[in-house]
Amino acid sequence: MADKTNTDPQRMEKIVSLCKRRGFIFQAGELYGGLNGCWDYGPLGAELKRNLKDYWWRSTVQERDDVVGMDGAILTMQQVLVASGHVGGFSDPMSECPLTKARLRADQIPAADAGIEYTFLGAKDAVSGKMTDKTITILVANEKQEKFRSAEKIAMKFYAEIFGKNAKPESLENGWTEQPGPRENGLYNPDNGVLMSEPRMFSLMFQTKMGANADDNDPSAVAYLRPETAQSIFVQYKNVLDSSRVKLPFGIAQVGKSFRNEINPRNYTFRSREFEQMEIEYFCHPKDGMRLTDEWLETRLKFYEEIGIPRTKLHILDVPDGERAFYSQKTYDIEYEFPFGVQELEGVAYRTDYDLGVHQKGSGRPLEYFDEETKEKFLPHVVEPSAGCDRTILALICEAFDEEVLTDDKGKDDVRTVMRFTSRMAPIKVGIFPLLKKNEDQVRIAKEIQKKLQPWMNVFYDDSGAVGRRYRRQDEVGTPYCVTIDFETLGESGEELKNTVTLRHRDSMEQERIAIDALLPWLLERVR
Ligand code: GAP
Repeated sequence: MADKTNTDPQRMEKIVSLCKRRGFIFQAGELYGGLNGCWDYGPLGAELKRNLKDYWWRSTVQERDDVVGMDGAILTMQQVLVASGHVGGFSDPMSECPLTKARLRADQIPAADAGIEYTFLGAKDAVSGKMTDKTITILVANEKQEKFRSAEKIAMKFYAEIFGKNAKPESLENGWTEQPGPRENGLYNPDNGVLMSEPRMFSLMFQTKMGANADDNDPSAVAYLRPETAQSIFVQYKNVLDSSRVKLPFGIAQVGKSFRNEINPRNYTFRSREFEQMEIEYFCHPKDGMRLTDEWLETRLKFYEEIGIPRTKLHILDVPDGERAFYSQKTYDIEYEFPFGVQELEGVAYRTDYDLGVHQKGSGRPLEYFDEETKEKFLPHVVEPSAGCDRTILALICEAFDEEVLTDDKGKDDVRTVMRFTSRMAPIKVGIFPLLKKNEDQVRIAKEIQKKLQPWMNVFYDDSGAVGRRYRRQDEVGTPYCVTIDFETLGESGEELKNTVTLRHRDSMEQERIAIDALLPWLLERVR
């Protein structure tokens, strides 16, 4: 069992830096200071994401007889999210620091260490003579020297904010109290020890207004950016059933954007405000729900292995009673060992008939299923494997990142940075290099190979610098194969090597020769 608190911030820093340097991920709006919780995928990140979504779609929808796909609208009717319970209840407890105004998720604030809690009861401004009786409470850990002075310094900052930028609070006029802390249920800002406000519920949904009445205060103009892709699947369940000749059990799959106004986006792209989900709602007879939940868990674990996330790095949390959503009879969280700790990648939840039940009630339209064979009429139950696309991308990147120490002939060490993506996920499948860019024949053949491979896969042509450096540049972005067109290709070392190229493997760095004509089928077998 992995230690869930085990982290490696240095490794994470290197990964974040590589992602920017090589064009995987940029902060959204970076030119203007950055939009918190939003990320743009650069040229290589976009390829990686496309590979993931394409493979998920292929293995989930196209290669199964019992799952169909859909692509729902992002803008969502408020009635849908009222019925689902999101309008009333999709919120997190939020608490505010009275000094810095930082808003933190109350359930994520770490418990404070024992110390002395000072409450300052007011202050007077030296410049204007104004007074305030606003209070501020600060917890100073027992280990800290000069506890009162350090609390007083923080309190002074708080009162300076009240009196204005240039004003100076002269004294903490109304005195202070002190007592051992932390107080029961007290939440303290981990950065400064200030007692946070009582938590209040904060809606995670982005509300917008649409239509010609959007400018008026017309409540019917309210719509939401969807907080999950699942709801459009439930709402369209009957249309899909009636139009697709599917029979229970069957699933509807969707990949797409979701939006949550997370209070504290963090851990790089892990918790974002705009992100993509890959969700399956699998409709079944109630008697099959538990069994199918276990089957889907296995299917999803196999998927992660197929994209290069080994089982040994995944942890399955069987969410205990009392911690699951109230309607769920079983929920597994699939977690991955990120460098910032073991965290959730996907949930596989048995949601019973909750979703179809609330939409049947909310819409007043029947959503029951009629089984032709048994003549039974019932509301199907749902098993939901719900994966985060961006989180899986982050797991792929973290898993692929490697620094390998190589020792040359003279005993000198060198670090090779290599992204060990599976060929299936790698953003670039092949690097194509003419050995010498001034050799017209080598360049011509290299370009011919490029044109031949391009309709089938993403390739990269590079003719600049020494070939060893070109290999290293491709290693750093995870290109599994490179081909070099050299003098042997031209027949200069004999007829038997003519029209062959050097094929270099990223992981082993071994090289072999392969006929140009054999290249495409050889690669196709490996990169899909
Ligand atoms: N329909 C069920 C549902 O949405 P969830 O656990 O809230 O369940 C499913 O989300 C998955 O979506 C998570 O396991 C995670 O991978 C991804 N996800 C959720 N919130 C996210 C966020 N703020 N940023 C990135 N991914 C997120």
